[in-house]
Amino acid sequence: MSLFNKEYSSENNFAKSNPNYLNSMFGTTDVMPLWIADMDFKVAEPISNELKRLVDRGIYAYEFNAQDVFSAIANWNFKRRDLSLDPDAFVQVPSVLSGISLLIRELSEINDAVLIQTPVYHQFNKLIATAKRRVIENPLKIVGGNYEMDFEDLELKLERENVKLILLCNPHNPVGRVWNKKEMQRLIQLADKYDVRIISDEIHSDIIYSKIKFNSIASIDKLKKHIAVIGSPAKTFGMHSISNGYLYIHDKHTHKQFKSLVDSMYLDHGNVFSTYATIAAYTKGEDWVNEFIVHLEKSNKWIKDFIQTELPEVKMFNPEGTYQIWLDFSRLDLSDDGLKYLLIHKAKLALTPGSWFGGSHSQFMRINIASPFAKIQEAFYQLKRAVKEE
Ligand SMILES: Cc1ncc(COP(=O)(O)O)c(C=O)c1O
Repeated sequence: MSLFNKEYSSENNFAKSNPNYLNSMFGTTDVMPLWIADMDFKVAEPISNELKRLVDRGIYAYEFNAQDVFSAIANWNFKRRDLSLDPDAFVQVPSVLSGISLLIRELSEINDAVLIQTPVYHQFNKLIATAKRRVIENPLKIVGGNYEMDFEDLELKLERENVKLILLCNPHNPVGRVWNKKEMQRLIQLADKYDVRIISDEIHSDIIYSKIKFNSIASIDKLKKHIAVIGSPAKTFGMHSISNGYLYIHDKHTHKQFKSLVDSMYLDHGNVFSTYATIAAYTKGEDWVNEFIVHLEKSNKWIKDFIQTELPEVKMFNPEGTYQIWLDFSRLDLSDDGLKYLLIHKAKLALTPGSWFGGSHSQFMRINIASPFAKIQEAFYQLKRAVKEE
């Protein structure tokens, strides 16, 4: 049986199924947890083998291997996307979010504005607000049933709001867009015009569906001024609780500035389990990722067909990447509380509420499909039964 057809996640400590979390967020534990963006699968065998080797080794003396990780990430990007990266332009940080948080503090001042494109990964708001910067929203717009960037609104905000940074999500969590080359070029052109730095969070960039091309900011930014969070194995390989984060800062001056900040806080040592697991992932995990994407595409196709034929009341935004699907329930014409009741108590599903992602998205939900196919099918059967009973 394929690795991706088995259910593994059952321990109470996993955030996704932790009864305390479920109770506090959904008021019950009697729900199928499909909310937080992680996966129900075991990591690829080369990763487990590497972790076992370290356990057996039993010696954990100081050990610094970041440079080997940078080379592994650079090789991975060259092989999979034909993207040449300079291993010396990376900086290791404890996690993607801690890296972005430090970047915001280092590259802007208190009360400066940082722009985000809502609906977007909810921690972005917190990262900016807790750094005492102003959050400026440049909402995405829906055109012909798909999300696009609103460049007119973006330019207006860049002009008027003293924006210092744009925090880009590419691929975009939760709407699943993978920004195309034209969109990236236009975004960069506007950022350069207003002298604004882009921090591009590319944590989901290995989960890209057929016929879609991922354009890292590092491949488009001719002036090499913008910053990519490129290559965190967390989402790709299911290493959420054991992975460091990797920033790519090609501008030498900024790289030096940021590296000395990280050095001064001793944040770049890296955990050795994470380091070796990451090297194993990027050097020996390719077949596993390819199989995982095939699995996700099968689930995606099934969901799309199911919604079309059985659940036309729900609108699905076809993802181009990520294992999240963004669903619009507004056609059900329920109140926000009514929708919550239907999903939690009738469909018995714990989905991520759209209201987390900014803007007015209380009629939207994000579902995480990185689970066995049968579980995803069951979730949609439960949803259909609940909707039809309404
Ligand atoms: C866009 C995005 N960035 C960052 C993270 C979290 O990264 P980390 O756990 O390395 O801080 C997530 C997790 O869902 C995410 O979706």
